[in-house]
Amino acid sequence: MKFGHFDDEAREYVIETPVTPYPWINYLGSEDFFSLISHTAGGYTFYKDAKMRRLTRYRYNDIPTDSGGRYFFIKDGDDVWTSSWLPMKKDLDFFETRHGMGYTRITGERGGLKVSTLYFVPLGETAEVQKVTITNTSDSEKSFSLFSYLEFCLWNAQDDQTNYQRNLSIGEVEVDGSAIYHKTEYRERRDHYAVYGVNAEIAGFDTDRETFVGLYETLAEAKVPHAGQAQNSMASGWYPIGSHQVDSTLQPGESRDLVFVLGYVENTPENGQEKWADDAKQVINKTRAQALLARLSTTEAADAAFDALGVYWTDLLSAYTVTSPDDKLNRMVNIWNQYQCMVTFNMSRSASYFETGIGRGMGFRDSTQDLLGFVHLIPDRARERILDIAATQLPDGSAYHQYQPLTKRGNNELGSGFNDDPAWLIIGVDGYLKETGDDGILDEIVPFDNNDALAETLYTHLTRSFEFTRNNLGPHGLPLIGRADWNDCLNLNCFSTTPGESFQTTENQAGGVAESTFIAAQFVLAAGQYATIADRRGDTAQATLARTAAAEMSEALLTHGWDGDWFLRAYDFYGNKVGTAEDTEGQIWIEPQGFAVLAGVGVEHNPDGTPVKTSPAFRALDSVDRLLGSEHGLVLQYPAYKSYRIELGEVSTYPPGYKENGGIFCHNNPWVIIGETVLGRGAKAFDHYRKITPAYREDISEVHRTEPYVYAQMIAGKEASRHGEAKNSWLTGTAAWNFVTVSQYLLGVRTDYDGLVVDPQIGPDVAEFTVTRQARGATYVITVANSGREGSRASLEVDGVAIAGRTVPYAAAGATVQVRATL
Ligand code: GLC
Ligand code: GLC
Repeated sequence: MKFGHFDDEAREYVIETPVTPYPWINYLGSEDFFSLISHTAGGYTFYKDAKMRRLTRYRYNDIPTDSGGRYFFIKDGDDVWTSSWLPMKKDLDFFETRHGMGYTRITGERGGLKVSTLYFVPLGETAEVQKVTITNTSDSEKSFSLFSYLEFCLWNAQDDQTNYQRNLSIGEVEVDGSAIYHKTEYRERRDHYAVYGVNAEIAGFDTDRETFVGLYETLAEAKVPHAGQAQNSMASGWYPIGSHQVDSTLQPGESRDLVFVLGYVENTPENGQEKWADDAKQVINKTRAQALLARLSTTEAADAAFDALGVYWTDLLSAYTVTSPDDKLNRMVNIWNQYQCMVTFNMSRSASYFETGIGRGMGFRDSTQDLLGFVHLIPDRARERILDIAATQLPDGSAYHQYQPLTKRGNNELGSGFNDDPAWLIIGVDGYLKETGDDGILDEIVPFDNNDALAETLYTHLTRSFEFTRNNLGPHGLPLIGRADWNDCLNLNCFSTTPGESFQTTENQAGGVAESTFIAAQFVLAAGQYATIADRRGDTAQATLARTAAAEMSEALLTHGWDGDWFLRAYDFYGNKVGTAEDTEGQIWIEPQGFAVLAGVGVEHNPDGTPVKTSPAFRALDSVDRLLGSEHGLVLQYPAYKSYRIELGEVSTYPPGYKENGGIFCHNNPWVIIGETVLGRGAKAFDHYRKITPAYREDISEVHRTEPYVYAQMIAGKEASRHGEAKNSWLTGTAAWNFVTVSQYLLGVRTDYDGLVVDPQIGPDVAEFTVTRQARGATYVITVANSGREGSRASLEVDGVAIAGRTVPYAAAGATVQVRATL
């Protein structure tokens, strides 16, 4: 069942009913100011850091779900309603939410009034605009009042939810004309406040929640809109809110626009602003807030800011586009998957409807992988991100597992010891170099451990990454796992019996010999990439060393990491196999199968170049199909663990079929998909892709439940009672890996050092398509005639001339190159 539809022309998902299977959200903001907004206007806003600078309040775990946001109440005669359906839930004659690129438009109509609100964050501003358009759709004159409503958060979102003995006494506001100022803690150490203004005369305001809502009332019963008159309440402690009353009279067919602006303002010595407007230091200096409101004080100004946002997105999304007969494929590639990659760039794993914004910092592993999904969109910011991340690496090549975005420093509480982290740095830099050709980044001097005294070139950082794995091998020549590898829940050195203890940071079995076949496969890929980088710098000795190390690791995987029909997953603390047919549960795990094959391990060729079908790579992926396959995607392992296995850690704590215990982790399905393209099995690859990709799941939204336009981290696996139900949408490495997979392997267009590789493997269902790719300043128009035959590879014509191989040499900046691929 569908609850809306894609409007590809407008780059929007159009939600047609408020009762979706879960709140379906969007993100506003592209630089420093961000908002989460659901299809019923729930969510919250923050400046830079969702924990430390939260402007508005949101309650996770609330009843009903998603009941905090920015709302507009309409008082029309005796009728009171909210245009976003929530919180009042009055029946609407029309409801529609359009989630677009950095904006959301929510429209509700009732009793002859249509209220449409466009929410967005203008480029260059630290503010959310809420442009409300009210139209009288009846045939008589209408006089009515509109009440805005939002609840301020006392800045630190964690403290806000825990420290009531202090917080309920500190709330402070000012009101000046139509602008409401939230200034809690400004009298002491804060140099920032929030402003909520509207470009119209107001008939009153409220800033005290109890006055507006009542103490025992729900938001749906809020007193002020029901009474129809604002009380001009001034918050003093308790719960500061922002609410304006605007009265209007509209003739039939007449419309009125109101531009509400919720902004964040700093007064600092750096921006030359006095903190106070008066000597007594009681009145805040409003100069910058007033300038902000003035910049957005007309419909025209708001519209111009909105248009600029559209241009920004058109420009971003033009780097890679596809035209094919498959609309679902087109919309994922051209719009939504790239959009989600940008959101993961901005948010990392901080703020979503499954991440509270007060938890995790930026992950070393997560951010280096996210980079692969957005490097073609914003290469300059990718460069900066690489240097920030590398600066948190430790001198032995290991890494802080997380760092804080405000300070850019490694997080001491979590520390290091996730032994897959180092290799991800090489994999991220490899993606950046191939995209940009910016070899100069390798000579940047970057600190280790954020300590300038330990700074070395970025190339040296990569060398240390490479060496780290080599220096940390176990008895089978496979990498030691440390606290965990990519799978954060495979904790082979934590034997925990205490509820609540962290599986990841409690290493109570230090000195163990637990080894990871996943890191082995990852090392084969990364060492190969590092060897190429070394070669290109003329460091042939290092290149040879790396190639030898990769070959040895490949060998170790095939000898000690092979179970007979698939790759083992690990050796545990005692040296016992994990992921073996000899066990009753967890017999086969997805991660090493996909990653080994994509790294080329176990791929054998006949003398004529065709692949050997009995080679380990084929057997591994056939086993994946047979044992991990399901109608909703490939599960992480099978059979799932039914009871707690102390020696495996968190993985077995999840009920069977959820998360890392047999859930469908949409982040690692792509590794298998890429693996299938390596084996020339495009049809199979595309099949796996379609099972987890949201646009193809739109028709079963009632099963899938989360947004049909973005990936979720996990879909419940075949052993779960709710097989097919997704969770943790938006902030997941799934976004980047699926974009890499579809753009570079299925459609097959990827940047390399010396040219653009064109090597599609998508099977027969997409018989022809055109990819337009901008790379290094030139435009490549690649038209593909695709038989989809298993094992066939493209032959290329470049500007009408056949070339050998599948690499189109880079053209001069400004050139347009026509490529014809046939297979
Ligand atoms: C989460 C984490 C990621 C990890 C994955 C598997 O998505 O963010 O770092 O690799 O889970 O455990
Ligand atoms: C839990 C989750 C995993 C995530 C990790 C982040 O282990 O299951 O997906 O990566 O927490 O800390």
